[in-house]
Amino acid sequence: MRYDRITDAIGNTPLVRIDPAVHGLRHIDLFAKLEMLNPFGSVKDRAAWNMARAGLPGAEADGSQIVELSSGNTAKALAVIAGMHGLTFKSVTNRMRIPETKELLLLLGAEIEELPGQSECLDPTDTEDPLTLFHQALADSETPLLHTDQYFNPRNSAAHFEGTGPEIVADLDGRAPDYFIACVGTAGSSTGVAGALRAHRPDVEVVGLVAAKSDFIPGIRTRDEVHEVGLFDPDTYDTLATVDSGQAIEGMVTLIRRCGLLAGPTGGAAYHGALRHLREADARLAEQRDDGPPAERRTAVFIVCDRVEGYLSYIRQRRPDLLGDTARTPNTLAGLSDADVAAAPAVTVDEARTWIEGADPLIVDLRSTYAYNALHLAGSVNITDEILGELLRAGLPFARSRPVLLACPVGEQSARYAALLTRMGHPDARSLTGGIVAWRDAGAPLTRD
Ligand SMILES: Cc1ncc(COP(=O)(O)O)c(C=O)c1O
Repeated sequence: MRYDRITDAIGNTPLVRIDPAVHGLRHIDLFAKLEMLNPFGSVKDRAAWNMARAGLPGAEADGSQIVELSSGNTAKALAVIAGMHGLTFKSVTNRMRIPETKELLLLLGAEIEELPGQSECLDPTDTEDPLTLFHQALADSETPLLHTDQYFNPRNSAAHFEGTGPEIVADLDGRAPDYFIACVGTAGSSTGVAGALRAHRPDVEVVGLVAAKSDFIPGIRTRDEVHEVGLFDPDTYDTLATVDSGQAIEGMVTLIRRCGLLAGPTGGAAYHGALRHLREADARLAEQRDDGPPAERRTAVFIVCDRVEGYLSYIRQRRPDLLGDTARTPNTLAGLSDADVAAAPAVTVDEARTWIEGADPLIVDLRSTYAYNALHLAGSVNITDEILGELLRAGLPFARSRPVLLACPVGEQSARYAALLTRMGHPDARSLTGGIVAWRDAGAPLTRD
């Protein structure tokens, strides 16, 4: 296989059967589409190249900067593509939650602009979301920019409609699978592949997977972020289901240890979501078989978006046991149950204001440094949730003698940390219910130093 340019090596990824002894399905053949084997490392190589290449001649002529709202794989691919064409690339993101990604992007030559914001994915329905404002500013900019616009650009899904989908059909001897399962970020890959498969067989069952509410699986939306905007169209999916980060990591470990596929957490989420859906379908097929002639075998395909190596800190935070930390009760959020979090001590904005006056708690703001610098509660300290997570692994970093008030954007992460501090023996750690958003909406004072 010989190429003139590395971008010619994008696509034509393998479709690999998962061993039935691993997945346990009796009537369904399950295949993984290994998008992790694209040259820049992910499913996003296809979209990035298809979006950028149309504008490259013009961008090269006027020295435009390529700009994209991405904190991960799209940014990686675009950074490389920009460098290959003598252009610069700027990744705008509300938050780089995976330190390795940030370092890799810098190594690839990207400029990074971090903005505050609550969500991992762009929310164009929220006019206050700084990413949304930036999106508008980019659209209005008169300076030379090549804005690839992955959330809206039809060339994103077209890359999969023309590439990924037809490749799957070709590798299944000209037949579309019965089931297609994919995680949903911009929705480009699931929309494009679903369209191509349904052109062959309108009844292909498409399962879209998102992260559970306020959980974080790199690259994909949470249940709360499934907005009907951009390329996302709910009609694409017969089922839209959630996976949590624990399940994603479990799925990932099975792919790695049992199947030899060095998948990242999102590939693990797709495997977990696929199996959960297909087990029910498999059971129905078994019933039909008991009642009549043998049911025809079915075929299912899921996408493995990227590789594991870039997510070691993500894994360490959630499953330190997988990385050799075998302490029996690691002080991590992963060890908390929903009931622990629901029972976490919390104060409303009004209660917090009185409490701050009377008891002078240490106020810990868990948001990004950018958001903290913009506005925060007077006297608070900024320890981002990732850093607090690291600190807590070594033990309680706060004196037990002083109460602690934890604040995050909407009160969900702070509730988890209040539960964890309490479990670790802090006598009075409370979460600010509704977070900084509720504080601001109540008209309570915020300051900038
Ligand atoms: C790791 C990972 N998985 C899945 C996706 C989702 O792909 P799409 O944007 O095509 O929905 C992304 C998107 O960035 C990603 O980074």
